Amino acid sequence: MRTIEWCDGAVRLIDQRRLPHEEIWHTYGSYQGVARAIVEMQIRGAPAIGAAAAYGVALAALASPAQTPAALQADLDEALRVLAATRPTAVNLFWALERMRTVAQAALASGVDVARAALVAEARAIADEDVETNRRMAEFGAALIADGMSLLTHCNAGALATVDIGTTLGVIHAAHEAGKRIHVYVDETRPFLQGARLTAWELMRWGVPLTLITDNMAGHFISRGKVNLVMTGADRIAANGDTANKIGTYTLGVLAHENGVPLYIVAPTTTIDLGIATGADIPIEERSPREVTHICDVPIAPAGVPVANPAFDVTPHRYIAGIVTEQGIVYPPFGVGLRRVVREA
Ligand code: MRU
Repeated sequence: MRTIEWCDGAVRLIDQRRLPHEEIWHTYGSYQGVARAIVEMQIRGAPAIGAAAAYGVALAALASPAQTPAALQADLDEALRVLAATRPTAVNLFWALERMRTVAQAALASGVDVARAALVAEARAIADEDVETNRRMAEFGAALIADGMSLLTHCNAGALATVDIGTTLGVIHAAHEAGKRIHVYVDETRPFLQGARLTAWELMRWGVPLTLITDNMAGHFISRGKVNLVMTGADRIAANGDTANKIGTYTLGVLAHENGVPLYIVAPTTTIDLGIATGADIPIEERSPREVTHICDVPIAPAGVPVANPAFDVTPHRYIAGIVTEQGIVYPPFGVGLRRVVREA
């Protein structure tokens, strides 16, 4: 099942806010609709956000009434600006928009019809490549998982966070399919509950044995020797290996390090940002206080309470044992290895 797909000149995506209780699909014919879907997290997860943004640009090209390359360029610039303003942390968004901008620039020289067709083809290629990338990461990553292992994961880095297959959950699925007896502890992942709602749903559909825990139980299970490996996705990896991922990943990194448990990141090379030297420079999205004061629309805190809601944190590279990419696994020191996999990609 693809999380997002091109469908007769429109974009169809599953509404991840409603899972696991309802499977509702939305169809968008405008880039504004796709931008809103990203902001509201109907679609989320770094690679899925990148694919959605690319499709958004394709929709903008089709919807534009422009008859000249200059007019189409102006409409595309506006769409690129709106889509770039949706979520700041996942670098896949900016990577996908840059790729679409480059294609537009080249194709516009041949006229508006050629540009429109080229942008649709490019968005579809970005989505297809994501699936293939995940397939390769699953192969590399599954080698890290031995029969009988117990893993812990955070947030949702599954098929839902990508076009299909997933990053971390792709690896876990591959190990399970290979007949390895594994067990996964799933952090619920407050405030948006991607673990409880989405990762638990995906793993149960695949028949992977799991235990759902609240985020503050992770230390207990790790310190009791119940976890052999912590594995998460990433939203942006700096040139030195510092990794931004869902809020709470840093805590897991410290806990894993303290207890001698390896933490592996699974992320495509499109999540690596060599333009950023360390994690300190990664922009961290601040989301609505309502995500903290409410759970599934039920208020849990006094009205008007001051709230902080950073959506991501940064795990320093010293807590990371390795980064699984579609070009292979990068081990410390990360600087050289990350440059190599980006060059090869
Ligand atoms: O806020 P979200 O749900 O978009 O955050 C998602 C994550 O943090 C994922 O771990 C990350 O994007 C990797 S998805 C393959």
